[in-house]
Amino acid sequence: MKAIILGGDGFCGWPNALYLSKQGHDVTIVDNLSRREIDVELEVESLTPIRPIGERIRVWKELSGKDIKFENFTVGKDYHRLVSLIKDEQPDAIVHFAEQRAAPYSMKSAGHKRYTVNNNLNAINDVLAAVVDAGVDVHVIHLGTMGVYGYGTAGMKIPEGYLKVKIDTPEGETEQEILYPTNPGSIYHLTKSQDQLLFAFYNKNDKVKITDLHQGIVWGTQTDETAMDERLINRFDYDGDFGTVLNRFIMQAAVDYPMTVFGTGGQTRAFIHVQDICKCIEIALNNPPQTGERVNILNQMTETHRVRDLAKMISSATGAKIAYLDNPRNESAENELNVANDRFIGFGLKPKTLESSLIE
Ligand SMILES: NC(=O)c1ccc[n+]([C@@H]2O[C@H](COP(=O)([O-])OP(=O)(O)OC[C@H]3O[C@@H](n4cnc5c(N)ncnc54)[C@H](O)[C@@H]3O)[C@@H](O)[C@H]2O)c1
Repeated sequence: MKAIILGGDGFCGWPNALYLSKQGHDVTIVDNLSRREIDVELEVESLTPIRPIGERIRVWKELSGKDIKFENFTVGKDYHRLVSLIKDEQPDAIVHFAEQRAAPYSMKSAGHKRYTVNNNLNAINDVLAAVVDAGVDVHVIHLGTMGVYGYGTAGMKIPEGYLKVKIDTPEGETEQEILYPTNPGSIYHLTKSQDQLLFAFYNKNDKVKITDLHQGIVWGTQTDETAMDERLINRFDYDGDFGTVLNRFIMQAAVDYPMTVFGTGGQTRAFIHVQDICKCIEIALNNPPQTGERVNILNQMTETHRVRDLAKMISSATGAKIAYLDNPRNESAENELNVANDRFIGFGLKPKTLESSLIE
C-alpha cells in the first residue's frame, strides 16, 4: 500500500513510518519540523538524542534497503503542495499525525492558543479539502485523543465515538446514534473535538473515507524498528509541556526526586504502548470503511490507570518516593474512566501492558 504519513518526524509518526516501511508499504513523510522548533522555544530537548530527519531516513535505507520519501512543508498552509503530492503519489491512505499535541502548551498564552487552533484545524480542513480536490480515493486515518470525551465520570462505559440516544417525537420514542458529546479540557482537546465535526461533514458531503482513532496517552519510547540503531531512536519528552505523566514520573524516579502527584492522584487516564499504536494503524489501514459508510471511530487505548497507582507501580519497582502536591489544574480530583476498546482487541491486538513491561 502507499501511505503518506503527515507528521512522520514526530514521536508517534516516526515509529509508524518505519513500521509500515518494514511491512513493505511505500511511505512518504510530510513534516514541517515544527516540533523540533518548539524544543528550541521551550529550551528543552528529548532525553534521547534524536537525529535530523535526513540522517534518520539515510540510516533506515542503509539498514533495511527501503526508501522513505520526505517532504518538508506545512499542512494547513502549503495547500497546493499537498494537493500535488496526493495527485502524484495516488496514496491508498493518509495517516495524519501532524498536529500540535500538548494540552499544557496549548494553554500557555493567547499566542499558543491561536497557534494550536490555526495549526490543527487548518491542517485537518486542508487534508480533507485536498483529498476531495485531488479526486483520489484515499482513506484518511486521523489521530484523535481519548481526551475529547472529557475526564468527568461518565457513569457508563465510554463507547467508540457514537452514543445511542432516545428521542421523544410526536410519533413516539425513536432511537438515534449521535457523536458522543465532547467535553474538552484544553484548547488542544478543543481542536480534537472540532476535528470530529469536520470529519462528519466531509464524510457526509463528499463521502471521504475516514477513520478517527481516539488515542490514549502513549508510553514507551522504542519500537522494534527504532531500536535497530541508535540513530533511529525515538524521542522521549519529559518537560512540563510535552512530557506525559508517566515519562515525568520515570525521570523523577531516575534522578531520585519524589514523583509529584497532583491532588489525590485520583485522575484516571487511558494508555497505550508506542509499539501497539503501530499495530493499530496497520489494522486501520487494512480495514478502511466502505465509501459512503459513516466515520469509523475506534478507541485506541489498551488500559486505564489512576495517576497515584502509576506512581505506586514505579515506586514499588524503583523505591522512588511520592510527593502529593496541590493540583494546579482545573480538573476533577477523582474520575472513573471505563472505555470500550473491543474493536481493536477483536482485530487481534495483543496489548503490551504497563504492569508487565514498564520497567523493561
Ligand atoms: N503522544 C501522545 O501521547 C498522544 C496521545 C493521544 C493522541 N496523540 C495524537 O497523535 C498525533 C501525533 O502525536 P505525537 O506525540 O507524535 O506528536 P509530535 O509533536 O511528536 O509529532 C507531531 C509531528 O507533526 C509535525 N507537525 C505539526 N504540525 C504540522 C503541520 N501543520 N504541518 C506539518 N507537520 C506538522 C511536527 O513537526 C511533529 O514532527 C497528534 O495528533 C496527537 O494529538 C498523541
